[in-house]
Amino acid sequence: MITKKIAVIAGDGIGPEVVAEGLKVMKKAASLDGRIQFEFTHFPWGCEYYLQHGKMMAEDGIEQLKAFDAIYLGAVGFPGVPDHISLWELLLTIRKQFDQYVNLRPIQLLNGAICPIVGGNKENINMLFIRENSEGEYAGVGDWLFKGKKEEVVLQTGVFSREGTERIIRYAFEQARKYKKTLTSISKANALNYSMVFWDEVFAEVSKDYPDVQTYSYLVDAAAMLMIMDPGRFEIVVTSNLFGDILTDLGAALAGGMGLAAGANINPERAFPSMFEPIHGSAPDIAGKEIANPLAAIWSVSQMFDFFGLEDTGRKIIDAIETLLEEGQVLTPDQGGQAKTVDVGNRIVEILAL
Ligand code: NAD
Ligand code: IPM
Ligand code: MN
Repeated sequence: MITKKIAVIAGDGIGPEVVAEGLKVMKKAASLDGRIQFEFTHFPWGCEYYLQHGKMMAEDGIEQLKAFDAIYLGAVGFPGVPDHISLWELLLTIRKQFDQYVNLRPIQLLNGAICPIVGGNKENINMLFIRENSEGEYAGVGDWLFKGKKEEVVLQTGVFSREGTERIIRYAFEQARKYKKTLTSISKANALNYSMVFWDEVFAEVSKDYPDVQTYSYLVDAAAMLMIMDPGRFEIVVTSNLFGDILTDLGAALAGGMGLAAGANINPERAFPSMFEPIHGSAPDIAGKEIANPLAAIWSVSQMFDFFGLEDTGRKIIDAIETLLEEGQVLTPDQGGQAKTVDVGNRIVEILAL
């Protein structure tokens, strides 16, 4: 029996609501699996904590988190604390400090999920986005000069290091090779005449080491169009931090909405804990109403089992989500139902035990 220590940061808004269901599923799946058990430690960090303490996490928060095997996160951000503070002091700090440079975001339409495009099906909406998660447009480099004056200038610099660019592209090639899938790179070299020209060059260079992998390259604007018009073109996709952020919300829409989209922030070297989360935010518009869909948070639990090498149990969690969607009886309003968040978690636990 292996024991894994999980840091739980439920966070803000619907974060705690969906995390509670994810934890139920994690415990049930572990007990059914029999090879793993979890020890949970809950951290009260987030916007409420900020309002009390003037910071988003404890001073030595990163040190505290180092002791864990993984982090399970709900969502961060709430009206009352500026978003750039709440996100930079918690979520983005963890991703960067723990060098979680791979952001794995599956976009997979399951049977029973609502697909907004004509002809979308399980075969043609089945992608894995591999988003660069440590630098690029999210490097946090810039300046704000002459604030409030007529000459005011704001700079936000993208940072694409050779190491950072090459490692994410290489990781994506490895995945494409492993799963025998095509690999698509998404960039924007026609306008971003330094960073994206460089990205394309590195992609071309690395591709020489993988002659067995069929590659495609699209400009991000065309890629956004093609994801709607012809999603079957995309299998494994590698792209920059910002493009990956935007395109995976678009992808979430293709596969049933924000309530079904999960993401894993991975440090492949396992020098630091990796972090598992739904890709949606704190959804202040529905927070407290007990109607948030917990399936994205539950899907990220499946990613955690995969990460711990228990892919068969990870698969069972995805299958349980699909069964629940196919049954169509216990769905939250975003999926056309009237169920509460907690009902969905309970039903998944029941299905797992069938
Ligand atoms: P959001 O993802 O919170 O919500 C967008 C829309 O999707 C809303 O209408 C919301 O009700 C709906 N939605 C999201 N998750 C849902 C779920 N599980 N079930 C049903 N409906 C769901 O994005 P936003 O409104 O742009 O951002 C709200 C806050 O969250 C902001 O502070 C933002 O910075 C933050 N945010 C945090 C994360 C994160 O922690 N990973 C991600 C995105 C946004
Ligand atoms: C996401 C979120 C974050 C991001 C925000 C909240 C900083 O949108 O995980 O997709 O842009 O990475
Ligand atoms: Mn996002």
